[in-house]
Amino acid sequence: MEGQRTITLRREEPRDHRAVEELTRDAFWGLFAPRCDEHLLVHLLRESPALVPELDVVAEVGGELVGHVMYSRAVVVEPATGTAHGVLTFGPLSVRPDRQAAGVGAALMRHTLAQAAELGHRAVVVYGHPDYYPRFGFRPAAGFGITAPGGATFDALMALPLVPGGLHGVTGEFHEDGVFVVDPERAAEFDRDFPPRADAVLHPLDAVEGRLPAAASRALRTLGVRHLEDLRRLSRTEVAAGAGLDDEACDALRGLLAEHGIRWGAPRGHSAWTGTTDLS
Ligand SMILES: CC(C)(COP(=O)(O)OP(=O)(O)OC[C@H]1O[C@@H](n2cnc3c(N)ncnc32)[C@H](O)[C@@H]1OP(=O)(O)O)[C@@H](O)C(=O)NCCC(=O)NCCS
Repeated sequence: MEGQRTITLRREEPRDHRAVEELTRDAFWGLFAPRCDEHLLVHLLRESPALVPELDVVAEVGGELVGHVMYSRAVVVEPATGTAHGVLTFGPLSVRPDRQAAGVGAALMRHTLAQAAELGHRAVVVYGHPDYYPRFGFRPAAGFGITAPGGATFDALMALPLVPGGLHGVTGEFHEDGVFVVDPERAAEFDRDFPPRADAVLHPLDAVEGRLPAAASRALRTLGVRHLEDLRRLSRTEVAAGAGLDDEACDALRGLLAEHGIRWGAPRGHSAWTGTTDLS
């Protein structure tokens, strides 16, 4: 339920296509960069053989489109042998900005993960907000022996077995479908067909520098954080460890980001990895 209103979930239909692309653009605009290309990604994924059409789902409240998610086939490849294990991935996941933080994203995730299991899929691997997806059971993929291409590991790469043993013997490098590599020129061209929109202005780290311990600001820079938006790719645990922030400083950072409209991190004491069945 969202407030007192029911969230209806159903398969995306051709009549939804344009509205879903607009919704995706609204949800991702300025999230990581001044513009976004996820609306083109949605467009291209629909035509991709990797798409799992049963898991291309919209959420409605009061007859209005408020959310969308789509899943596609991906692989985990063992570098030594070239053995490829099929897994699912999802994204973009989008909730209309004025309907966020009201349970729509969670409803879409819970419904589609259950459906994916029913369809016989065994595991999901995804790049995403590292402190959002653990509530659905996702854990850092590194714990399963799954890395990004080239072997890098970070908390934003997460995995979830859908059935017991769903990731047993599945180790190696995660590769999404090629369609995820979006050509920036094509994205700019595609975007011209949407209402003109000014670039979003990202928030430089300087915006909060005076309000964080100087050592913490320096450490965030060494973690590659130039704008507050860059923190979306880092978990609270990574920031705490990498920037040497204690709980209090992490809470302060979380509050500062919230002031700038950026949801980040888990609340203090919230153990991201508990409360779900371990199906590994
Ligand atoms: C991220 C998104 C899908 C979440 O869906 P939603 O309907 O807004 O969120 P829900 O109602 O399911 O969950 C709300 C909770 O998640 C938390 N949350 C939301 N985004 C978060 C983030 N990026 N990091 C950590 N926590 C987050 C909220 O603080 C809230 O916490 P609470 O339950 O402790 O109050 C949605 O906000 C969205 O579309 N954002 C823009 C696009 C995007 O980021 N897509 C996902 C890319 S990986």
